[in-house]
Amino acid sequence: MSDPRHDLDVIVNDIADDMKRRTDRGAVANYIPELADVDANAFGLAVIDRDGKVATAGDCDAPFSIQSISKVFTLTLALGRVGDRLWRRVGREPSGNPFNSIVQLERERGVPRNPFINAGAIAVTDVILADRQPRESLGEILRFVQFLAQDPSIVIDHAVAASEKRTGFRNTALANYMKSFGVIEGPVDFVLGVYFHHCAIAMSCRQLATAGRYLAHSGRDPATGLSVVSPERARRINALMMTCGHYDGSGEFAYRVGLPGKSGVGGGILAIAPGKASIAVWSPGLDRAGNSHLGRIALEGLAKRTGWSIFGD
Ligand code: DON
Repeated sequence: MSDPRHDLDVIVNDIADDMKRRTDRGAVANYIPELADVDANAFGLAVIDRDGKVATAGDCDAPFSIQSISKVFTLTLALGRVGDRLWRRVGREPSGNPFNSIVQLERERGVPRNPFINAGAIAVTDVILADRQPRESLGEILRFVQFLAQDPSIVIDHAVAASEKRTGFRNTALANYMKSFGVIEGPVDFVLGVYFHHCAIAMSCRQLATAGRYLAHSGRDPATGLSVVSPERARRINALMMTCGHYDGSGEFAYRVGLPGKSGVGGGILAIAPGKASIAVWSPGLDRAGNSHLGRIALEGLAKRTGWSIFGD
């Protein structure tokens, strides 16, 4: 009888071998100077199934900058804080625009399309900040991520955060614009400070796949049995990841991979196979929409070989 664990190991290793050989790796993000130095040849993959069995390959234990993947965790925290009132400040529709677009925000009177584009995530960070000090809010976000990943060693890469703070003119523009409409309540520099720092959390594929398990299993972490969010909320976060998690590349990601996913400009993608597995992949080279080029191709291969696409085998 075939051992599914063995199969998953084989699949994950095959994919990593294929990806290591490929020369079309995309371009490493350079608008955050500190990210430009990352090795474009790195590749990591980690898959954790329902029973907690882990299949890994490549640079699966190397920490990388999770960037926009952190927006999944801040969205979860903000929903926990204010529930559906969050949706008064941010929409739930795909943007069809780049992640840092300004024009759409003007047309829509300062209300961001969804919580995953930069403007939306900055508004979500403002909700988490509320009346607190930035340090306190950041501590809360980091502790939540450490709790999900069951790993207190996870840290923020302060050099990456400082690098983005120095060059984040466009995010500053988005935040100021939202402030002018009252969508941002806190001081803009506090909100941006927390945002830049949560984007600079460094995690490995193994840690990230562990942290995503609550989304794969109806809001409950199967390792601890603890409920993180309700099944309904997990389903809805997955829906947003599917429709908005790859910005204007979300349709293509759904078409090719068929799993809820969230990308980051550090080259990581967290993908969720509901009821089956939590998956993290890392390849720093990006496509034109700012999503990991080989990360998407690797996930496409994984979904095909496992039959995990939510749209059918
Ligand atoms: O705000 C930024 O531009 C970055 N900290 C995060 C953007 C990002 O990761 C987009 N994802 N693909």
